[in-house]
Amino acid sequence: MYPAQVRIVEVGPRDGLQNESAQLSPDVKIAFIDMLSAAGLQTIEAGAFVSPKWVPQMADSDKVFAGIQRKAGVSYPALVPNEKGMEAAIAAGVREVAVFAAASESFSQKNINCTIDESLARFAPVMNMARAHDIRVRGYVSCVLGCPYEGDIAPAAVVRVAQALRDMGCYEISLGDTIGTGTPVKTRAMLRAVKDAIPAAEIAVHFHDTYGQALANILVALEERIAVVDSAAGGLGGCPYAKGASGNVATEDVLYMLNGMGIATGVDLAKVAEAGRFIAAAVGKSPATRVGLALLAK
Ligand code: HMG
Ligand code: MG
Repeated sequence: MYPAQVRIVEVGPRDGLQNESAQLSPDVKIAFIDMLSAAGLQTIEAGAFVSPKWVPQMADSDKVFAGIQRKAGVSYPALVPNEKGMEAAIAAGVREVAVFAAASESFSQKNINCTIDESLARFAPVMNMARAHDIRVRGYVSCVLGCPYEGDIAPAAVVRVAQALRDMGCYEISLGDTIGTGTPVKTRAMLRAVKDAIPAAEIAVHFHDTYGQALANILVALEERIAVVDSAAGGLGGCPYAKGASGNVATEDVLYMLNGMGIATGVDLAKVAEAGRFIAAAVGKSPATRVGLALLAK
């Protein structure tokens, strides 16, 4: 019924830290990323080559990429919004990037200052550069279960953007509940609509835990045979263009659930919890993870 194995895509160093007001040094980010790779995570989104005026927290991504110990077998993707970002990513030696589009027009405007179709058109040259440099590209769709400006989002809008990203050559499409308003029945309906267009093996889920629904929604995704889950150690962060959005679901919480279900991840929960505590302390917060706090109290 459930996948035997799940790949966790750790997005803490990017999605987690992009929205923290604390200005961290590259060294702290590098230490965090190296702790995550030591915990056995195979995919660690390590930064973003976006406009520093829009997201100042990611402005040092080149330094971060220069400082991390790249572990064999681990992929370190970076977010890129356009050709300029792609050029910077290539210069930093990035081997995997992620492009991001929204299922909601208003969110697309607020986040990347263009329409959905303009954003897709911007990715075409990025995909060409990726092919020329043998760089893998992941695609994100934001606001798949709700938009901070438009409210409900129709599954058909998600399918259209997901399909366009796949047709462009993205190897995996991550479906983002950017503001964490999704609930299980809606999650299932949205996933089934996307699965009619894209094989389950090429779909990932990306939940923010704003309303405490993330694990319930991930369970539904597992039932729908989705085997890639995005999460952030320490449950930090949010989205600068989605007011009130709290952090991604905590990697600690996802791992505890998967471990309890006998689903293999290859990731050491205790080591992730350590990384979560490290980064929470660095930003001056308590880790936003029930499992992380329970382990700490033991
Ligand atoms: P714009 O202002 O419309 O673009 O921004 P522009 O082309 O007019 O450029 C303006 C300035 O930015 C220029 O500099 C460009 O050179 C520079 P100036 O001449 O004024 O000095 N610029 C850049 N600088 C560095 N790197 C670049 C770059 N591009 C242009 N790549 C743009 C458009 C897309 C650049 C901007 O809106 C942007 O960077 N947005 C990023 C927003 C972002 O990172 N959001 C968070 C990530 S998405 C997310 O969190 C959701 C996700 O987690 C999934 C989910 O939860 O659903 C993925
Ligand atoms: Mg996100």
